[in-house]
Amino acid sequence: MARLPQAFLDDLLDRLDIVEVIDRRVKLKKAGKNYSACCPFHDEKTPSFSVNPERQFYYCFGCGAGGNALGFVMDYERLDFREAVEGLAQSVGLEVPKDDPRGGREPPKDQNKPLYEALERSSKFYEHALRQHAERHKVVNYLKGRGLTGEIARDFRIGFAPGGWDNLIQATGADETAQDVLMRSGMLVKNDKGRTYDRFRERVMFPIQDQRGRVIAFGGRVLGDDKPKYLNSPETPVFQKSRELYGLWQARKHPRRIERIVVVEGYMDVIALAQHGIPYAVATLGTSTSETHLERLFRIVPEVVFCFDGDDAGRKAAFRGLEATLPAMQDGRQAKFLFLPEGEDPDTLVRAKGKAYLENLFDHADPLETFLFKHLEDGLDLESMDGRARFSKLAAPHLHRLPEGVFKTLMYQALADKTGIDVDSLKRLQPPPAPRPDPMEQSTPHTDGPPPLDPDEPPPEAPMQSEEPIIESLSPSSQNPLHRLLGILVLEPSLIAHIPDTLLGTEGSRDAVLLSEVVAHIRKYPEVTTAALLGFWFGTPEGDFLNALAGRETIEDDAGLEALCTALVEKLGRHPALDAARQRFEALKRKPYAELTAEEKQALLTLTQEIRALSGRS
Ligand code: UTP
Ligand code: MN
Repeated sequence: MARLPQAFLDDLLDRLDIVEVIDRRVKLKKAGKNYSACCPFHDEKTPSFSVNPERQFYYCFGCGAGGNALGFVMDYERLDFREAVEGLAQSVGLEVPKDDPRGGREPPKDQNKPLYEALERSSKFYEHALRQHAERHKVVNYLKGRGLTGEIARDFRIGFAPGGWDNLIQATGADETAQDVLMRSGMLVKNDKGRTYDRFRERVMFPIQDQRGRVIAFGGRVLGDDKPKYLNSPETPVFQKSRELYGLWQARKHPRRIERIVVVEGYMDVIALAQHGIPYAVATLGTSTSETHLERLFRIVPEVVFCFDGDDAGRKAAFRGLEATLPAMQDGRQAKFLFLPEGEDPDTLVRAKGKAYLENLFDHADPLETFLFKHLEDGLDLESMDGRARFSKLAAPHLHRLPEGVFKTLMYQALADKTGIDVDSLKRLQPPPAPRPDPMEQSTPHTDGPPPLDPDEPPPEAPMQSEEPIIESLSPSSQNPLHRLLGILVLEPSLIAHIPDTLLGTEGSRDAVLLSEVVAHIRKYPEVTTAALLGFWFGTPEGDFLNALAGRETIEDDAGLEALCTALVEKLGRHPALDAARQRFEALKRKPYAELTAEEKQALLTLTQEIRALSGRS
């Protein structure tokens, strides 16, 4: 039995970004909060295919195709479930577990959930302190002094870690379990004597958010000139420096479509640029730029500008950035390198000279080829044969790492022009250098190979199709409040809190039963996401139906969804005839059956049918 544990599938979906997964296969364009493209599953001239990054699912308004990242890859690449899982797992460095011996329907154990919660609570605590703490003025003045408004502080969720050893512990880590979680989130440190205290004290706090906006770590800056200036969270199960970029969440969330991303060095650079109308800067987190970073950025925009100090260290860092960029330089992508005057950084420059000045610098930054050749030429005499020979030997291995394409051909041609060595000889010059290890990109090899998949096996964990024939009523209608309720429940599972039991039942129309099934599923797995819900019903008529319903809802914010949910519940429950029938029914049922008259017994029967009919469950 080829079954994968649900926890593994949840973890996989959790690590994937559907925008990246789809964009790698079908070029996406930003359209408001979502991304769009011409649908790959049917012929069309205007895009009706839409990808929702927040809820991690896609939907085509034209043909109704929809689902999560896994479903997309299966359909697009015509892979079976197992193949798609393996490809995707490899892309995020997850190992596909062997068969789950129990055939696993145990609840998903998201080990990281408490960490995300603790980090979110910590961020709230710091944000709150910036507004309420007796010493908040120190930080507020500091931020004002650096030219930031309250609005930008809110966008970046800037906070204040007050002085003292255990503010965070007192506020959020009351018992041992909570403290343990804080410790595993990197928020606490333990000294030699085994005493535990807050990692961040007396600092301005910058929460680091992942691609879905979850707080995963912090950077904290001293208010004065103490050292170290910045303190950062250590790596934790939810924070890997070589994957994350500070400010990427805000940049992607920005309503204006961004055409390029600028990579800068510091938190404050990102924030100051955003403050001055440049909402597309991100910062690496005390590491050099990795191939993972670049792949991620180029899936969002075609142009990446690196911004570095003009000093020696800056040039070295820039070259490391270049090396990480080479494998990502497919045709149509552009990388540029900008070196700032000594003593300046994007923060100081944008404050002194403004947005237009900075954007002009970005426009005229050195293209990758210029910087590559300039850097390698340094100290060589290209007038001499020896110099040209050495130059070609230095440069060729870098060109070799470029992906095939026009750009690579042009680069070889340019190197040939510079050195007088013909392109074929240049290509033969080097044994390809060993690929630079990028631990995050490495896949875990399977030694024993995947277990064979029974072709008749339904996707693991997908519900078995029911025996009964299904059901014309599974055709979505935006007029049907029950359908809309199902749709928004899939979008926002936490809304089940608003659904009264009176709307649930195990009999009646497929739609009504499905509502109960969806609610039951969410109750069992309260943390289930849209993508995971769609995954659970994947490949069944119910799954297609739920995709269609969720895809039709275009509500932009959660407040809207909640209001809509309450309104729909009310609409479904308010049916006056239904109410009356229910009340009479309940009244009769309270009597012992033996005491009912023949008419009352008959009335019970009629009422049952009436209620079914009225609630759309007949
Ligand atoms: P910089 O020293 O250039 O600081 O560090 P900055 O960003 O200009 O800081 P401000 O303007 O004085 O506030 C750049 C980045 O290097 C990391 C941080 O990520 C910082 O944003 N860094 C720097 C540390 O992690 N620790 C440090 O002590 C200093
Ligand atoms: Mn600075």
